[in-house]
Amino acid sequence: MEKLIVANWKMNNDFSDIKPFVKFVKKNQKNKNGLVVCVPSIMIKTFADCAKGVMETGAENCFYEKKGAFTGEISAEMVKSAGASYSILGHSERRQYFAEDNVMLNKKLRACLDAGLKVIFCIGETLDEKSKYKSVLKKQIIEGFNGITDFSNIVIAYEPIWAIGTGKVATTLDIQKVHGFIKNLLKENFGVDAKVLYGGSVKPSNSKEILSLDEVDGVLIGGASLKAEDYVMIASSR
Ligand code: PGA
Repeated sequence: MEKLIVANWKMNNDFSDIKPFVKFVKKNQKNKNGLVVCVPSIMIKTFADCAKGVMETGAENCFYEKKGAFTGEISAEMVKSAGASYSILGHSERRQYFAEDNVMLNKKLRACLDAGLKVIFCIGETLDEKSKYKSVLKKQIIEGFNGITDFSNIVIAYEPIWAIGTGKVATTLDIQKVHGFIKNLLKENFGVDAKVLYGGSVKPSNSKEILSLDEVDGVLIGGASLKAEDYVMIASSR
């Protein structure tokens, strides 16, 4: 599988950024396999229509219920019908600011898979938890994937929280060590060869080194994914 280059726009960029972004990527990025851009839910339809044949579109989050009285929420079916093929779930900002826990994320994961969405499932430890990353990640994995047997539409994104938006990147040795740990855990507990992306201050200047690692199946990019030029430089460094 081609290494995935996943953008996470978070609550940045606007409708006016969509067309120029897609146009630039279409023109300048030769290898268009594995390109995914996750955008605010209100922009999914516009982005997906514009990016057809160039990039896949993803949501940054969605709710676990199919429909009903859940004011302000968006179902996985809605995300899918707007043209997205992916959803990020369990980003540390969702876990931290919106109190998403592993039990809720397990429900969201099932809802996305039922709706036919592929999922980028985020895990990661805080700076305080760095010395006990194994137990933190294990809990997120065992509880988050409880009862899941088919991982063909799931990729894991390892994002050490201390590396998100801080400019602090994990060393390549750290990335190899932690990705190896995650892959072993998935093999032992679920019998699968999991795909693991790295995220946290990935940028054009470090993406080549990170993407060259066998243990890394792609990257999840926040800040550096907002500009098409940076996104293309990262994608081209595969
Ligand atoms: P960053 O964000 O690349 O800006 O560190 C990554 C993420 O939060 O997905």
